[in-house]
Amino acid sequence: MTILETRGITKSYLIGNRAIKVLDDVSLVVSKGEFLVVKGESGSGKSTLLTILSGLDRPDHGRVLIENSDITDLDEDALAPLRNATFGFVFQSFHLVPSLTALENVMFPAELKGDRDARGKAEALLERVGLAGRRTSFPHQLSGGEKQRCAICRALINGPRIVFADEPTGNLDSVNGAAVLELLLELKRERETTLLLVTHSPEIALKADRVVTLSDGRIVAEGGMAPHANNVAGGGIATDGSHG
Ligand SMILES: Nc1ncnc2c1ncn2[C@@H]1O[C@H](COP(=O)(O)OP(=O)(O)OP(=O)(O)O)[C@@H](O)[C@H]1O
Ligand SMILES: [Mg+2]
Repeated sequence: MTILETRGITKSYLIGNRAIKVLDDVSLVVSKGEFLVVKGESGSGKSTLLTILSGLDRPDHGRVLIENSDITDLDEDALAPLRNATFGFVFQSFHLVPSLTALENVMFPAELKGDRDARGKAEALLERVGLAGRRTSFPHQLSGGEKQRCAICRALINGPRIVFADEPTGNLDSVNGAAVLELLLELKRERETTLLLVTHSPEIALKADRVVTLSDGRIVAEGGMAPHANNVAGGGIATDGSHG
């Protein structure tokens, strides 16, 4: 079953008075429960693609469909509840609320939903990633890796159907990186959570069902990694065969 689909996404940014095309005709079909890794050089458009797929920004052209409904033209009022209930995000820059403790940051999306078990869930998640002892710390008192783990807990607290994560283990040592990956894989196994991860980590890519490589805003390679991989989607994609 398809959970997310894009058709012909393009996005340009004005740099000075020149429009630079950052995404160029990107089409992608993602199945429910699939673990997709997006890789590519710095500046290739990975973060931009994630923000468009998750409805945080709009493409110039093309469509984004989530669970068969077209979200491309939805306004903020319609998108906000969808994002809070369906998506979990981990940004490259974490976006923690500075005035809230680690625990309060993690609880926040659940409280927005009126979840009475927000605290219990947040505590359990923090425990899972080794942050139980940092519950009452504020973001400025946390290391980069601790902030990252806190942001991951916040992304997962509402049981999202799709997790978008931009370099979720970028600041973590191998032990903590493995714990975060295990947490994500457990959600995939147990709840068929769909995972879209931007990462440079070869270890993570090895566990993915599929890896797409962006270069200058285009998908230049796409390959299955795991035996149950769910292969090439859509037309017009060159596969160089180097990923499996
Ligand atoms: N708001 C913006 N205004 C102008 N240019 C932007 C903006 N956001 C991104 N860009 C440009 O778009 C290109 C793609 O950026 P993007 O952040 O998607 O790259 P990336 O693949 O995530 O890179 P990295 O691996 O360094 O995180 C870059 O050249 C960047 O400078
Ligand atoms: Mg990026």
